[in-house]
Amino acid sequence: MKRIKKAVIPAAGLGVRFLPATKAQPKEMLPIVDKPAIQYIVEEVIDSGIDEILIITGRNKHSIEDHFDKSLELEVRLKETGKTPLLEMVQSISRLAHVCFVRQKEPLGLGHAVQCARRFVGNEPFAVLLGDDIVVNDKQPCLKQMIEMYNEVQSTVIAVMEVPEKDVAKYGILDSTIERPGLFRVRDLVEKPAPEKAPSRLAIMGRYIIEPRIFSILAEIGPGAGGEIQLTDALKVLCAEQPVFGMTFEGKRYDVGDKLGYLQATVEFALKRPDLREGFQRYLKSINEGLS
Ligand code: G1P
Repeated sequence: MKRIKKAVIPAAGLGVRFLPATKAQPKEMLPIVDKPAIQYIVEEVIDSGIDEILIITGRNKHSIEDHFDKSLELEVRLKETGKTPLLEMVQSISRLAHVCFVRQKEPLGLGHAVQCARRFVGNEPFAVLLGDDIVVNDKQPCLKQMIEMYNEVQSTVIAVMEVPEKDVAKYGILDSTIERPGLFRVRDLVEKPAPEKAPSRLAIMGRYIIEPRIFSILAEIGPGAGGEIQLTDALKVLCAEQPVFGMTFEGKRYDVGDKLGYLQATVEFALKRPDLREGFQRYLKSINEGLS
């Protein structure tokens, strides 16, 4: 039985949707309350039982590497000033997992970024998590749900969600048949179709478990939508060769690469924080009353 031991987190995008904040700072480091977005993703991977992680970075992404490294000066200062809980928190980040980095030299698309993980992954199935999609579920992380499905089907699994017709052009969309409630057998895939051309409203969310055959396909396909090498296009080839499944998942998904989605995540995450909830709730109530 094949097991999932490695996860790849592409983080090389230019963050155009978040300019000017992302002009000199990676979008993955934008905080949601007080934790950078990418740390939520790394924690999901770890909570799903995987501790070998590769982050694909690019230019201007040094702070991601620094974040998962030791911060010696900061640690010394926190120790000297007796700020033990903060010290422990800072130290725990660099101990989270075995995180490696590789640079995508040119922003040629998500498919190309994943291709940069070929050496790290080798010849085994692996997980891919996109940083724009944060999924929260108190019972079981989204990736863990997918790993359980992979253990059953032993074949590529993609997380999907039904989206409104007006949104299909933002996603990779499935053409599929139902295997059973929540599980779909993929017949075809199309990246960011116009609403009238979309085969369904089942959209790819940023979580995949993929068979290593994808690497040789990625090496052969050319640029697709937006002139980029698309992971969706490679998965389209893969599903003609071997079973590829779409699965729905339990949990709430936030598109933190979108300004509104980012604000929603910030507000909802803050409302869940015991140290912030009460004061923040009071504040929201007061501005709501002021508006009405
Ligand atoms: C990427 C994928 C797309 C997927 C989406 C999920 O698009 O190419 O298939 O549906 O992530 O967030 P991006 O949002 O990077 O343009």
